[in-house]
Amino acid sequence: MNVKKAILPVAGFGTRLLPASKSIPKEMITVVDRPAIDYVVQEAVAAGIDTIILVTHPAKHSIENYFDRNKELEALLEQKKKDKILDEVRRIIPDHVSVIAVRQPEPLGLGHAVLCAEKIINNEPFAVLLPDVLVDSTDKNNLQQMIEQFDASQASQIMVEDVEPSRVDQYGIVALEQNAGQPTNNIVALVEKPAVDQAPSTLAVVGRYIFTPEIFTYLHQTQADKSGEIQLTDAMAKLLEIQKIQAFTLKGYTYDCGSKIGYLKAVVHYALKRSDLNQQFSEFLATINHK
Ligand code: G1P
Repeated sequence: MNVKKAILPVAGFGTRLLPASKSIPKEMITVVDRPAIDYVVQEAVAAGIDTIILVTHPAKHSIENYFDRNKELEALLEQKKKDKILDEVRRIIPDHVSVIAVRQPEPLGLGHAVLCAEKIINNEPFAVLLPDVLVDSTDKNNLQQMIEQFDASQASQIMVEDVEPSRVDQYGIVALEQNAGQPTNNIVALVEKPAVDQAPSTLAVVGRYIFTPEIFTYLHQTQADKSGEIQLTDAMAKLLEIQKIQAFTLKGYTYDCGSKIGYLKAVVHYALKRSDLNQQFSEFLATINHK
């Protein structure tokens, strides 16, 4: 069965981006001229996803509004003959893609957020994209490649990236099977945010996943950890006992827009990629020397 549905958990408060996230959902904070979540949804759509499931919070309506049609705005732009921007506004979500919102009634963690979408997934394989992380692939869309790997192997896929040892305690970390001293792409262990001296490797879970529906069985069984959260990584570790899970090594860039420095890097990266901004912006960056 094809992977057509993607869960985007967006219910979190975004404490790392306070005070802005006090009244703007962190996913709606602008990277160049569009909210951060737009990049993640475009990545999913380009990979062939046709159903986006937002797992959201009552205070975050602006995310749903962004992906909805705004007929009044469209009529105004039409009347003013602003065709280019009208086209962009209309193209945010192509006609063949649906955006659905479900609520996460309590902040019980990422694993719980994924469980909130279980009924909509309806026993199919599906993707999970964490919208804090922007992924810009340097070759073919990496999420699409993960879906192709899934089609070929029927094994769940986890995108990973090598990180500095000092950062392993901020991520889920995976260990790979070794064959004649070389790593294969089969995962043999998964740990959520290990201490540096206990991490099985420096391969971090980036926030892009393809799961078989069996993950739900283990999410139901997973107990909250000491922070009160049901961890997706814990359910993945259980799934690994009955099914293969494979690592997909990112080929490209990631930016953690949930952190201030990651957000700033994302703005510079995506602005420099824009042909209408590149020259002026790079000239400006070359003049900066604040110490
Ligand atoms: C979550 C996951 C973690 C993953 C990370 C990627 O953690 O639990 O396994 O490595 O996203 O950003 P969070 O950053 O939500 O604490």
